[in-house]
Amino acid sequence: MLCRAALRSSSARLFSTSAARQTKVAVLGAGGGIGQPLSLLLKSDPLVSSLSLYDIRGAPGVAADVSHVDTASEVTGYPADKIDAALDGVQVVVIPAGVPRKPGMTRDDLFNTNASIVRDLATAVARASPSAHILVISNPVNSTVPIVAAALEKAGVFDPRRLFGITTLDVVRAQRFLAGIVESDPRQTPVTVIGGHSGATIVPLLSQSQYGKGIKGETYDKLVHRIQFGGDEVVKAKDGAGSATLSMAYAGAKFTNLLLRGLNGEKGVITPTFVRSPLYESQGIDFFSSSVELGLQGVEKIHPIGDISPEEEKLLAACLPELKKNIEKGKAFVAPN
Ligand code: NAI
Repeated sequence: MLCRAALRSSSARLFSTSAARQTKVAVLGAGGGIGQPLSLLLKSDPLVSSLSLYDIRGAPGVAADVSHVDTASEVTGYPADKIDAALDGVQVVVIPAGVPRKPGMTRDDLFNTNASIVRDLATAVARASPSAHILVISNPVNSTVPIVAAALEKAGVFDPRRLFGITTLDVVRAQRFLAGIVESDPRQTPVTVIGGHSGATIVPLLSQSQYGKGIKGETYDKLVHRIQFGGDEVVKAKDGAGSATLSMAYAGAKFTNLLLRGLNGEKGVITPTFVRSPLYESQGIDFFSSSVELGLQGVEKIHPIGDISPEEEKLLAACLPELKKNIEKGKAFVAPN
């Protein structure tokens, strides 16, 4: 009895369980550095009733392993040629498939390899589970999300309420790094991060945080730089063995749980995510991350960015042209010849 209570409280730390409906979730790229711990964390999420693990390599093994965890969800692994079976009946698809960075690489350097992987997986989702919600982790997110949108559009099934680029790791880092400076509890130190998911396109709105608004001068500049380039710390420390996998799996599971809560009818579930957005459409930027309310259909409401400081105006001015280029590059990749 005690054990069960302890287990319940440990999963409650990451996952909220207030809603009743349960959902079938697929992980495409489940054999990878992110995919494996992400699959494990999703196995612990009480809102996931069934997990479908797919990869071109190793998914059945990961599934056999994860399936022994004593939570109720069913886990099935699928090999390379079984993508349609993996996607059958799935409501949420999380995509961490693709290659990660090595030291000295930007996320954009991954474009050539990951663009076609993501396009092909999106086409498979359009065919096998056209009404699924798609959560993109594969980098460069600023381009891969527009690629998925274009592939779905081509197949005639694009619904902007159901497509998300996961930028949660930027939020997690911002909260952790800020809390480290002001000595607060990171979980009680919310920070909104807007824009995109790479370097200068990552714009933390510290002025909107009760803890962040007092940070000025060199401390502010260093904190912003660390939030924007925190991923490089991990790439460097892993020394050629890849990029963030464990913290990303945590962030991916966290975002998936928030989406499931919204899909289950919970009100007031709001988090930053990179979606088709009207906020900067007039400047030709039709994907943008800002606080989004998640609901029964996915994206319920895209919140405006709100009041920002002169420093944040400058960060945003640097973000927008780069983001625009990244989005256009993604669209051009899928554009009909
Ligand atoms: P990894 O190389 O360890 O794993 C990638 C997995 O994808 C491998 O198991 C591989 O077999 C699989 N894969 C490749 N092509 C596939 C296909 N067509 N279908 C299904 N699976 C396929 O890489 P890792 O570290 O897991 O990173 C994955 C991606 O996530 C990278 O693009 C990385 O840049 C990105 N990432 C995104 C972050 C974010 O904040 N959104 C943070 C960290 C990484």
